[in-house]
Amino acid sequence: MSLPTKFPKNFKLATATAAYQIEGARELDGRGFSTWDAIRSEYGRIRDCSDPNQSCESRLKYKEDVALLAKIGVTSYRFSISWSRVLRNGTLSEVSEEGIQYYRDLCILLRDNGIEPIVTLFHFDMPLAIYDNGTSWLNKENCDHFADFADLCFQKFGDLVKTWITYNEINMQAWSSVVKLEGEQWLCPDRPEVENHKHSPYIAAAHMLLAHAKIYRNYEKNYKENQGGQVGITNGGHICFPASDSQEDQEAANRATDWLFNCTLTPILTDSGDFPASMREKLPFLPKFTEEEKTMLRGSTDFLGINYYLAHSVRAISDDETPPAQSERDGSYAMVEGKWDKICGETWIRYAPDGLLAILKYVKEKYNNIPVLITENGCPDIVGEEEKEVEEILNDKHRIKYISGHLEVVAKALEEGCNVIGYTLWTLMDNFEWDDGFELRFGMCRVDFDSPEKPRTMKASAKYYQTFIREFKKHH
Ligand code: NOJ
Repeated sequence: MSLPTKFPKNFKLATATAAYQIEGARELDGRGFSTWDAIRSEYGRIRDCSDPNQSCESRLKYKEDVALLAKIGVTSYRFSISWSRVLRNGTLSEVSEEGIQYYRDLCILLRDNGIEPIVTLFHFDMPLAIYDNGTSWLNKENCDHFADFADLCFQKFGDLVKTWITYNEINMQAWSSVVKLEGEQWLCPDRPEVENHKHSPYIAAAHMLLAHAKIYRNYEKNYKENQGGQVGITNGGHICFPASDSQEDQEAANRATDWLFNCTLTPILTDSGDFPASMREKLPFLPKFTEEEKTMLRGSTDFLGINYYLAHSVRAISDDETPPAQSERDGSYAMVEGKWDKICGETWIRYAPDGLLAILKYVKEKYNNIPVLITENGCPDIVGEEEKEVEEILNDKHRIKYISGHLEVVAKALEEGCNVIGYTLWTLMDNFEWDDGFELRFGMCRVDFDSPEKPRTMKASAKYYQTFIREFKKHH
């Protein structure tokens, strides 16, 4: 049986993008300034020193992009709504009707092309005014503004959108949202509330989890019956394996999986309604949830989104070996470099499909086989690509190997009874890759950033995915 026929009817074969990474048009629709606008405006913060205005301009070229999605044939398209394009300063006091109209137009066009929208409400770009209001997720009030934004999205787009994701990679957002900006000495020399690096990720995680639960309960109570949609959350799929057979390394790997993966899941997916027990044991300062909050958290998701890129190999270290700033944060483990860099096609990239299988089986056992949507999976082009001939770039054999390797593993997981409901390829086209700027390109379509028209061209991997989906659809 060929690979595409191993996927059940209604399985989502999707691709994804995020607003900040593709939209451009920073001032259109009266869009407000966001944290990433601020980061990019500091020369040297982004590795390739690209112009802060450089973009694939999808806000303006969205019709072309939907046509591209339709050509590839995806069943679903995951994108994010930019908070600051809809609420200029992040609060209901400044609603942008133009922004709302834009996302409605996009959803309608997707619907007319038979493509299901999957909408992420927060994909790393926060209105700067919100960040500045007591610093990001550390201020609970900001979580209420986020919940207001979500509510407005349910009102305005709920007739068209049936699959919602509150946070993209809530676990990674907790680790980086505050610490990152602070760690780089960016924007906060006078902020006592973020001075303590060690505590802020946990406070941010607790607040975000509560915001997520509030949004979920709001949908459940006020929208679900009429709109019939689902609300989920995406976690970065960081599973950890022991670097050796020793008991210490095994325990460290379990702890690391708790810190990196389970931290933002056990509160919503287990009866405890709380952070993992190992974290409670080791971190006396871990924020505490009230009984009422635990009740709100427990079971507050319809499905689990997982972004999977690589697995980690971990070894135990003793507390005195740990750098002081790290020891309380990381549960005394160290990442072992390199273990998961494997040969893929003709080149070395991070390629560990066995980690995806492991994580899917882990979730099945630990979290009662909750439906899992793989919300991202993909790999970059090889660094130095810019110097290659276009033809060579378009012939991205390593990406085909990567995608097919992971799809095979998903088929295996399905055979083993894992409740996987879809696979999403990251990403539709080359785009702004955060700190790496435009240097690291994950697109199945190439964007020629040098040309004012920013033309998109399907790479070999896009053609592979197109054929894969065509066969899948033919089968069903
Ligand atoms: C995960 C993030 O959600 C996405 O924004 C990013 O581009 C990819 N990883 C690749 O690094």
